[in-house]
Amino acid sequence: MVAQLVSPAVLGLETSTVEVEVDLRAGLPAFSVVGLPDAAVQEARERVRSGLANQAFAVPARRIVANLAPADLRKAGPQYDLPLALAILCASGQLAAGALARVGAVGELALDGSLRPVPGALAMAEHAARRGWRRLVVPRGNASEAALVPGVEVLGPPTLRAAVDLLEGRTEPSLVRLDAAALLAGGGRAPGPDLAEVRGQAAARRALEVAAAGGHSMLMIGPPGGGKTMLARRLPGLMPPLSLDEAIEVTRIHSVAGLLDAGCPLVTRRPFRAPHHTISPAGLVGGGRSPRPGEVSLAHRGVLFLDEVCAFAPSALDSLRQPLEEGRIDVARAMVSARFPARPLLVCAGNPCPCGFDGDPIRRCVCPPGRAEAYRARLSGPVLDRIDLHVAVSRLARDEVLTAEPGEPSATVRERVAAARRHAAARGREGPNAQLAPDAARRAAGLDGRARALLGRAVDRLGLSARAHDRLLRVGRTIADLAGEERVGEHHLAEALGYRLPVTDGGAVAA
Ligand SMILES: Nc1ncnc2c1ncn2[C@@H]1O[C@H](COP(=O)(O)OP(=O)(O)OP(=O)(O)O)[C@@H](O)[C@H]1O
Ligand SMILES: [Mg+2]
Repeated sequence: MVAQLVSPAVLGLETSTVEVEVDLRAGLPAFSVVGLPDAAVQEARERVRSGLANQAFAVPARRIVANLAPADLRKAGPQYDLPLALAILCASGQLAAGALARVGAVGELALDGSLRPVPGALAMAEHAARRGWRRLVVPRGNASEAALVPGVEVLGPPTLRAAVDLLEGRTEPSLVRLDAAALLAGGGRAPGPDLAEVRGQAAARRALEVAAAGGHSMLMIGPPGGGKTMLARRLPGLMPPLSLDEAIEVTRIHSVAGLLDAGCPLVTRRPFRAPHHTISPAGLVGGGRSPRPGEVSLAHRGVLFLDEVCAFAPSALDSLRQPLEEGRIDVARAMVSARFPARPLLVCAGNPCPCGFDGDPIRRCVCPPGRAEAYRARLSGPVLDRIDLHVAVSRLARDEVLTAEPGEPSATVRERVAAARRHAAARGREGPNAQLAPDAARRAAGLDGRARALLGRAVDRLGLSARAHDRLLRVGRTIADLAGEERVGEHHLAEALGYRLPVTDGGAVAA
């Protein structure tokens, strides 16, 4: 007898349906899997045999032939263990014939027959709901994530035996639908690190506020111990909370990467990713045989922080150029390709030279001649050109070091940021100013005569690229939004221009 059920497959963020068929034939006991399975799917045979036996099911003493269709789609990973086991049980009469009608299943089997979670369960549940499947069986560890999706009944058994009991109606499903909106409202409230802990650094704090209000990328250069890392970590807390759609979008990416923790099915806070400087280009933008999202996608809608940016391999930094421009990344491999969204706010920080004190008014730089320039040259021009706000973070002054006075708290800054975003949204466009198209930026800026004259002088004297010009307008627009002004005036543009001055020529130049 042939038994059949469906299983969702995820490639990148795209989903498809795999039909799992099992036939039991006369002959010597054997178990073969066909349909372009990879090594992990081939190994499913051993896990399924042990899982069945250890959950007190009979392993049919027949020739078991399993087919995964469509045959041209590559089947990867151990996620087909559970559907294979269920189909074998159904084909051998150990599971009621109708129990698998319009039922999807996915999950890895342990040798004792318990179920291990698989990556991508959120996208799989969305697929099940779109296709109108009646039920989706997932391992207990994936259940709450899948239960975020309305429109499909999610069963989350801990073992194969529990799955059969649920499917045959001997036990009642215990899972209730999770309300994503309520989770988001609850989870978003937990406080992160607060800006009140940062003393001094008025210029950098202001730049942080502009970055949060307009979604502008940022570079902080300065001597060690000034608070660059500290400031960057506080940026997500200044940005507006994730909307429900954004939270689901971010969760989907983290789920595919297998990074969700079981107790917290929804990503409720803007991600903050700070990869180490030894990371490879593939780690940064994504890759692998079955493509996985890289840090630039894991930081989508949040902050991607490159600390000690001059120590990153230039090839890794350059790999960011295309995704940062387009807001997405296509990861192409020999047989497959996948697309991931990639719209993080990029924040870079670093020292002006290897010893850290080039340009410092008091401490002398001890780097050999030419070393500082070579160090900074690792940040290529095209990468620098993509950064909106260049800020020098100098050492704290004596009084600032010694003061016990707390700085302005994050909550106050967050309110101003929210007001600026509302002001921008009133122009009727979605998304932060940093994503304005060039002509939209020009229209939104509405420069007056004096501002236009200043812009002209800046293009002449600083040799601004067309991209830098557009970015300047967007930053000017955000500064005017923070001030609640309709048009970008000369002083807004002047502040924006200050952020384009090269701080990499010795830490304190633009301070
Ligand atoms: N402006 C500041 N206000 C309060 N504490 C600060 C400030 N700057 C630095 N500190 C203290 O110094 C520690 C180190 O700061 P941080 O790591 O942010 O410096 P950094 O500029 O990133 O240095 P590096 O260039 O070495 O990475 C912080 O954990 C904090 O305790
Ligand atoms: Mg640091």
